[in-house]
Amino acid sequence: MLRFGVIGAGRIGKIHAENLANRVPGAEVAAIADVNLEMAQETAARLRIPAVYADYHQILADPNIDAVAICSSTDTHAHIVVEAAQAGKHIFCEKPIDHDLAKIDAALEAVKKAGVKLQIGFNRRFDPNFAHVRELVSQGKVGDLHLLRITSRDPAPPPVSYVKVSGGMFLDMTIHDFDMARFLSGSEVEEVFVAAGVLVDPGIGEAGDVDTAIITLKFANGAIGTIDNSRKAVYGYDQRVEVFGSGGMAAAANNTPHNDVYVDAEGVHAAKPLYFFLERYMESFIAEMKAFVAAVQNDTTPPVGGMDGRIPVVIGMAAKKSYLENRPVKLSEIG
Ligand SMILES: NC(=O)c1ccc[n+]([C@@H]2O[C@H](COP(=O)([O-])OP(=O)(O)OC[C@H]3O[C@@H](n4cnc5c(N)ncnc54)[C@H](O)[C@@H]3O)[C@@H](O)[C@H]2O)c1
Repeated sequence: MLRFGVIGAGRIGKIHAENLANRVPGAEVAAIADVNLEMAQETAARLRIPAVYADYHQILADPNIDAVAICSSTDTHAHIVVEAAQAGKHIFCEKPIDHDLAKIDAALEAVKKAGVKLQIGFNRRFDPNFAHVRELVSQGKVGDLHLLRITSRDPAPPPVSYVKVSGGMFLDMTIHDFDMARFLSGSEVEEVFVAAGVLVDPGIGEAGDVDTAIITLKFANGAIGTIDNSRKAVYGYDQRVEVFGSGGMAAAANNTPHNDVYVDAEGVHAAKPLYFFLERYMESFIAEMKAFVAAVQNDTTPPVGGMDGRIPVVIGMAAKKSYLENRPVKLSEIG
């Protein structure tokens, strides 16, 4: 049994704690910590987690805990990674590692020095549809990749208070799409060019962010891609991908709660996409944890490593620069 300490009992911490406790064979949750102790207590009581703390250092000090799942707010990730590595714990860390490349590098260095496993929470790679599209690309079924298209629209914008500390849309939301672009193409992004605006909520603009964007990507293998983002799609969570190449095209459509169709005098009616990430990506949250546990147990390299965590942050920074300076930006300009 791999004994986990879960750090952070908010939206995603609850999901990971529940999956580790009930749906990931070979794992158990030995402790949970949140600065908001009540949040941790509520989850601990529901999942029968034996130890509950306000201070995550108590998890790190427990020699019977093998691994941590870092699910606290983004600004805490990098230093908790360093401390967890120094305490000899294997680490699953939610995305992004940080918004500061120097802090990310220090965290990755600490992990390397300690020789512990690190996996970053880019869960969409484990979505069965997207994984199948990737499989078709790696089997050569799409041929040479020419075009990649990702549509990624949230059902509703986050509160402006969240926007202010999120690092902006590119580092908070599009970061998943940057990871998908690398994953699906099997290539690295070399340049980005962004057109963006505030079309959903003026409050987001006043907070210095955008809510709508088209990002053009140029890849090292010559392919070209686009990501389109909106913070508000009135019909739900719109998550589609398409790869197109010399041998064909592979695409994944939205997941819906059912696939019934009803037809009447008004038209053809079908279900809207699943509402948001908790519904749409539940399977992937379980699969990513199973993969992490397997990597620790079999002493293999976790499928989403430290550099996979760092590179999308660099792409996000390049995207922000491109938007602000209204020009194509090469990733080599960022570092
Ligand atoms: N992979 C995904 O799809 C996905 C989805 C949602 C969130 N996330 C990431 O997960 C992280 C948390 O997001 P969330 O939506 O769950 O936020 P949240 O605000 O719901 O939860 C964060 C929790 O961390 C706690 N916390 C803050 N500082 C702490 C500390 N020092 N020690 C212990 N607990 C601490 C807070 O009290 C809060 O309960 C963010 O980095 C976010 O980017 C990833």
